[in-house]
Amino acid sequence: MRFSQLGAFATALAVLPELSLAKGSGIPSLKFTESPGAGFPLQDVQTVVVDSRFAQAKYEEGLSLIPPTLAEFAATFAEDLHAIAGSKVSVVEGSKASPQSIFLTLDDDTAKYVDAAGRKTAEGYTLDTGRSGITIKGASPLGVWWGTRTVLQQGILSADKFVVPAGTAVDAPGWETRGMALDGARHFYPKEFMIELCSYMSFFKQNTFQLHLSDNQIVNPFTMDTYARFRWWSDSESVAGLNKYRNESYTREDFDEIQTKCAARGVTILPEIEAPGHALPIVQWKPQIAYEGNLELLNLTHPDTLPTLKTIWAEFLPWFHTKVVSIGADEYGGPSDEYKIFVNALNEFIVKESGKSIRIWGTFPPDGSEHEVSTDVSIQHWSTYFDDAYNQYIKNGYSVVNSYDTFYVVLKYGAYGRKINIDTTFNGNPEGGPWYPNIFSTGNSSMNAPKDEPLIQGAIQPLWNDHGPTTSVYSEAFWAWREGIPAMADKQWGGDLTAEQFADFFPKLVGSVPAQNLARVIPSAGATIFDYDLTTEASEAVKDLSGNSNNAETNCESTGSSLSITPDCSFITPLLSKGRDYTLSLTLKVDEVADATKTTLISGTDSVLMLTPNITMFSAGVYFRLNTTIPLKEWVDLEIKAVGEQTFASFKSESGKTADKAEFLTAGVTGYPHMYPMAFEAPIHQVTGWTGELRALTLTNDG
Ligand SMILES: *[C@@H]1O[C@H](CO)[C@@H](O)[C@H](O)[C@H]1NC(C)=O
Ligand SMILES: *[C@@H]1O[C@H](CO)[C@@H](O)[C@H](O)[C@H]1NC(C)=O
Ligand SMILES: *[C@@H]1O[C@H](CO)[C@@H](O)[C@H](O)[C@H]1NC(C)=O
Ligand SMILES: *[C@@H]1O[C@H](CO)[C@@H](O)[C@H](O)[C@H]1NC(C)=O
Ligand SMILES: *[C@@H]1O[C@H](CO)[C@@H](O)[C@H](O)[C@H]1NC(C)=O
Repeated sequence: MRFSQLGAFATALAVLPELSLAKGSGIPSLKFTESPGAGFPLQDVQTVVVDSRFAQAKYEEGLSLIPPTLAEFAATFAEDLHAIAGSKVSVVEGSKASPQSIFLTLDDDTAKYVDAAGRKTAEGYTLDTGRSGITIKGASPLGVWWGTRTVLQQGILSADKFVVPAGTAVDAPGWETRGMALDGARHFYPKEFMIELCSYMSFFKQNTFQLHLSDNQIVNPFTMDTYARFRWWSDSESVAGLNKYRNESYTREDFDEIQTKCAARGVTILPEIEAPGHALPIVQWKPQIAYEGNLELLNLTHPDTLPTLKTIWAEFLPWFHTKVVSIGADEYGGPSDEYKIFVNALNEFIVKESGKSIRIWGTFPPDGSEHEVSTDVSIQHWSTYFDDAYNQYIKNGYSVVNSYDTFYVVLKYGAYGRKINIDTTFNGNPEGGPWYPNIFSTGNSSMNAPKDEPLIQGAIQPLWNDHGPTTSVYSEAFWAWREGIPAMADKQWGGDLTAEQFADFFPKLVGSVPAQNLARVIPSAGATIFDYDLTTEASEAVKDLSGNSNNAETNCESTGSSLSITPDCSFITPLLSKGRDYTLSLTLKVDEVADATKTTLISGTDSVLMLTPNITMFSAGVYFRLNTTIPLKEWVDLEIKAVGEQTFASFKSESGKTADKAEFLTAGVTGYPHMYPMAFEAPIHQVTGWTGELRALTLTNDG
C-alpha cells in the first residue's frame, strides 16, 4: 500500500536534521531520490522542449472541458520560469532533451501512477534532474503541469538559489478533486481576484475551484429586500430580471476569461447555483415560488418552481466548461421527499441538456423512504449534523467530496474560523496523524472511511460570507486562505508534510507564487517604498527620495512650498495598491471639498481614502467610515496604518486636533451588530478630487 509506505518513509526521515528534509520536497510533499552530482540551475534554462509527438495532446478525461494542450502548458511554464528565475526561455518542439533544456513529454508506462484507492491517475508525473537539464514525463499533460510546479518549487526552496537538485521523483495525487470553494454570491469578487486565486491554488497542485454564485445574506427574518445576488449576467429574455446588479456580475465573456485563465493553470471552475434553499435571489425574481413562512426557500410543489430552475440552468449550462456542476441543495427546511424528487428531476434535466453530472451538499441522507436522491448525484459533505458521509452516503453507493466544516472560514461572523484551521490538517485523524479527505470527523472514527475508499472523490474547502459584503474586502478572503490553501493542498494530494516542515517551506514559497500578487507586495530596497517631498518647487516629474525610483508625475501647480491640488489636476505615482503591513502618510491642507459627503483624497486600485465627511475607506464597493474626521483649512499630518488584520487612522492638525489610531471596523449588518477589524490595501496611485495643498506623501512597509 502506497500510503503505509509513505508513512514509514516520513517516520524514518523525521530523525534526520531539518535541512535534508528540504531537498527535493515542497508543498505538497514529494518522494524524491537524490542522485550524486550537481543539480540544474533554472537560470540556465534556454529552452522548454515539448515532445512533438504529444504537443497537441490534451487530458480530456478530467473535469475540464477546455484542457490546455501540452504545448500550451509549456508556454505558461516558460512565463513562470522567466518570472521566478529571470531566465529567458523559448518553447520549441523536439524529440528529445537538449542541453540546458527542460523536456516535457508523456510517459508510456502510466501504471505506476496510482491514487489513494490504487487506481491509475492521469495527474502523476516523473521528474528527472541532472546537471544538463530536467525531464518531466507525465501520465497526461496535466500530470506534466504538476511536475512543472515541482520544478519551480524546488528551485525556490534550494539553498543554492534556483538549483533543482539532481535526482528522481515519481509523484501522483491521492485524490482527483482537490480545491477550494468561494462564496462569491454574498460578496462580490472581481474576475481578476478569482484568476489570481487560481494561480495561487495551482502552485500547490489544487485543480478545482468551486464558485458559489447565487445566495442571500443570513438575517432573521428574511424580507424581499434582504441582500441576495445571482452573479451571472445574461441579456437573454428568458432570465431578464434575475440579476439586477450589472456592476457586480460576470458576463459570459468575463466568465469565459475566468474559466480559460484558470484552466491554463490546470484549475477547473466548478459553478454552483444554489436552490431550493439559500434561494432568495430566485424568489426575488419569481415571488410566487417562495415557501410560505421562509422566503429563502422554494416551494417545491408550486408548479412554477421546477420550470424556473430549468430555465436558469438551460441558459447558463452552455457557459460552464466543466463536466460537473453544483445545484447547491443545501440546508433545505421543507419536506425531504419533495426535496429528493426535486434533486432527481433537476439531475435528469441537467444530464439530458448538457451531459454534465451534478453535485449537492449533504442534506437529507438516504433514510429508507420511497424517494431517494439518485446515486448519480455526488455529495459534498460538510457537517456531521446533516449527514454521516461514510455510513449514510458512501455505504449506499454515493460518491462524496469532503468539505468538512472543521476547515470552514466564515468571514467575520459566528463560531467558524476566520482562517483555515491548519493545526487540524496536521493532526486531524482521531486515530492519530494528519487529516486526509477520508476523515469526515476529527472526533469519531466510526464516521471515517478507509483511506483507499474509492467513492471519496477528494476535498474542497469553502469560504463563506454569511453576513454579506460589508464585513470584508476582496483580499481578506485570500488572507483567510493564504496558509490554508497550501496546508490543505498537501493533504488533498496525499502529502505527508509535518507541521514543522510546512512552517519551514511555506514562508520560503509564498513570496514566489507566479501569476498573482494577491498580497499586493511592492518590491523595495528598504523599508520606505516612496517618499515625495513637495515643499520645494516641483516640476512635472517628482523624484522619489526612497531610493526605489518610484518617481511620480503631476500636472498640478507648485505653490513654492507645496503642491496645489485641485479636482482638475492630479499627482500620480507609478504604483497602484499596497497590502499589509504599511504606513501611508500625507501632510495636507484641505481647503474645500466639492461634495462634503463624497470626496476622494487619494485613490488606488483596491481602495480609496475619502472624506464623507468622516474619514472613510471605500473598498469592494462599500464605505467603511470612522467616527472622526480631519479639520479643513489647516495643515494636518494624516497617517493610515495597516497592521495584520487591522487598519487605523491617526492625525494631528496645526491647531491641535488629533485622533490616535482610530480603527476601521466592519460596516455592520442590520440585526447583527458585530464589529470586527478591517484590513484595507493602501490607496497609493492618484491624488486628486479636492482643493488644497499637499506637502508630503510617503509609504513604508512597516505597520
Ligand atoms: C406551495 O404551493 C402550493 C401550490 O400553489 C400551495 O398550495 C402551497 O400552500 C404552497 N406551500 C408552501 C409551503 O408555500
Ligand atoms: C460515532 O459515529 C457512529 C457512526 O455514525 C455513531 O453510531 C456513534 O453514535 C457516534 N459516536 C458518538 C460518541 O457520537
Ligand atoms: C455597484 O453599484 C452599486 C450601486 O450603484 C454601488 O453601491 C456599488 O458600490 C457598486 N459596486 C462596486 C464594486 O463598485
Ligand atoms: C462609531 O460609534 C458607534 C457608536 O458609539 C460605534 O457603535 C461604532 O462602532 C463606531 N464606529 C467605528 C468605526 O469606530
Ligand atoms: C461620523 O462621525 C460622527 C462622529 O464624529 C458620528 O456621530 C457619525 O455617526 C459618523 N457617521 C457615519 C456615517 O459613520
